[in-house]
Amino acid sequence: MNDQEKQMQVAVVTGSSTGIGLETSLVLAKEGFSTYATMRNLDKSADITSKAAREDLPLTVLQMNVDDDKSVNDTIKKIINDKGRIDVVVNNAGYALVGAFEETSMLDGRAQMETNFFGTLRVIKAVLPIMRNQRTGIMVNVTSMGGRVAIPFDSFYHASKFALEGLSESLRYEIEPFGVKVVLIEPGAVKSDFWKNLKLTRNIEDSPYRPVIQKLTESFEKMTQNAIPPEQVARIILKAVISDNPDFRNIVGEDAKSILEVKSNNSDKEFQTFMKKQFGF
Ligand SMILES: NC(=O)c1ccc[n+]([C@@H]2O[C@H](COP(=O)([O-])OP(=O)(O)OC[C@H]3O[C@@H](n4cnc5c(N)ncnc54)[C@H](OP(=O)(O)O)[C@@H]3O)[C@@H](O)[C@H]2O)c1
Repeated sequence: MNDQEKQMQVAVVTGSSTGIGLETSLVLAKEGFSTYATMRNLDKSADITSKAAREDLPLTVLQMNVDDDKSVNDTIKKIINDKGRIDVVVNNAGYALVGAFEETSMLDGRAQMETNFFGTLRVIKAVLPIMRNQRTGIMVNVTSMGGRVAIPFDSFYHASKFALEGLSESLRYEIEPFGVKVVLIEPGAVKSDFWKNLKLTRNIEDSPYRPVIQKLTESFEKMTQNAIPPEQVARIILKAVISDNPDFRNIVGEDAKSILEVKSNNSDKEFQTFMKKQFGF
């Protein structure tokens, strides 16, 4: 490792094949971080690889499936062998499982928790001893406004994001004395492949929940029309990463700001009435 490499700060981003992960990897690399853009399927690496090559960015693509202990541990080991340090981890990989709770199998529910919650924990567990020994580092956990407010037919998704918020809130006290920070990024609707990748729990044609699910689908369409670009989330992530004293919670998007404001200024009953109106329930 030469002197320049030693000084370079190292960032790792999960779920970098598309959307927020892809843009965050590029933004961090442009800022001068030696960036490891990880993704579970390297066949999807062409887009980020060509963008990074065009600007000669310090970006390397590596395979990492956050559901898999060996994949996470091997990739983190490889980065440590290459660079000897990790300064930033952006836990971004995730997807949403959509459907009535009653019609969601435990298998699908567990898979949702495995990626969004345990997947993030797996990466944190692999990286935390490194950052603690370095006495510096920041973990950025991409949750959602859905980590603080819940909409219907998304129960396991919200469970995964609420859980990650709670875990992060507890963890921050433990790791702060070692110079390691944890922050949350809470976007509203973002224009990415997230909406295309929604996993439906079952075909709703003969579901008793069909009329309400259809209403919700219509409001999803409205939400995505006003969605913000993933670059906007990436810029807020960068701001938190380079700040000496970042906010613990970082809300991104006007939709998230206004919904969270309504939530904090009203009783649970008033908030539920407000939300039902949004969905036409
Ligand atoms: N878009 C929104 O409106 C929105 C709002 C709030 C929060 N978020 C959160 O933002 C994060 C990023 O989502 P996005 O909007 O950028 O959606 P996206 O374009 O669908 O990207 C999701 C990324 O996660 C990856 N991923 C999924 N499971 C994985 C696994 N087991 N291991 C490694 N990578 C995995 C996907 O890989 P593949 O390409 O292989 O599937 C993809 O790279 C998610 O945590 C999501 O919950 C999104």
